[in-house]
Amino acid sequence: MNFKAIEPVGNKLKILDQRRLPREVRYNEYDDYRDIIESIKTLEVRGAPAIGIAGAFALAIAAQAEVKTDLERLKKILVDIAREIRSARPTAVNLAWAVDRTLDKANHYAGDRIDEYRRILWNEASLILAEDEAMCHAIGAHGQALLKDGDTVLTHCNAGALATGGSGTALAVIYAARDSGKKVKVFADETRPLLQGARLTCWELMQEGIDVTLICDNMAGFLMQQGKIESVILGADRIAANGDFANKIGTYSVAILAKEHGVPFYVAAPTSTFDPGINSGEDIPVEERSPDELTNWGGVPIAPPGVKTYSPAFDITPAELVTAYITDKGITWGKRKGD
Ligand code: MRU
Repeated sequence: MNFKAIEPVGNKLKILDQRRLPREVRYNEYDDYRDIIESIKTLEVRGAPAIGIAGAFALAIAAQAEVKTDLERLKKILVDIAREIRSARPTAVNLAWAVDRTLDKANHYAGDRIDEYRRILWNEASLILAEDEAMCHAIGAHGQALLKDGDTVLTHCNAGALATGGSGTALAVIYAARDSGKKVKVFADETRPLLQGARLTCWELMQEGIDVTLICDNMAGFLMQQGKIESVILGADRIAANGDFANKIGTYSVAILAKEHGVPFYVAAPTSTFDPGINSGEDIPVEERSPDELTNWGGVPIAPPGVKTYSPAFDITPAELVTAYITDKGITWGKRKGD
């Protein structure tokens, strides 16, 4: 991979600005946690694992900035800052998970040295990043066994290196298949309204020399009908205890199409995306985004002024539609295994 979506540099966080891709490859460095929250909200950094990593570093960076304080006061300040970071985006569990884990780890420190407390926060954020990289690798290694030489895979949104601290989840499977000598082709759904598929997945796969073909979201059914797709592999933002999962809006439609056409439907995700505290998809909070994302593109209006809009950023796919979950621990077969 010749880029990193997110990387600590000194005591700053370096983020690849995904709002500008594919037009421009630009990195920004942040040493203010509020800028990182803004970066998460505006999708400069995006994808469930990546926003978790960004959130953990935002907390560590906030602790560094609070210089005129003692340890007890810093701990109190960070409770509020952690809440602020967690609420930047509600759907991907990875964000709250990473922020809570980082704070928890630091709060187990029983000493009274503020520098040590800050160091623990930074180290935990770094550990989350390193673990995510390893989980991506493991997801790829397990998942590639599901692909045959010559297969064509459909993916939705971007669940690649741009969305994680490593080589991705869904796209890690593609990279691992390639590395094991299989020729695999990809169809990338454009993924309206923010075009993560067109702008990001196509860019990333082309950087890696993977054969990728861009399609509009509404073309997937026709391609399946024509027998052009061997499997669907995509990511997840939160997987409930019963296997229902949230992912980018449009995922549910792809799952229904895959079932109708007998195409295996795989969800690739690290353990940090599983939320055992939530029973079913009904309880997953779905982020709603600004109407502007529907009514404008690149600053140009594409709908009549004043039109009513509804813009859920994610949808919920029931477990019944999943053939298998590809995780860092291995393959867990889903309810569609047999068909
Ligand atoms: O709104 P986004 O771009 O953050 O949505 C991202 C997705 O839906 C991804 O598929 C998901 O986070 C998995 S990334 C490994």
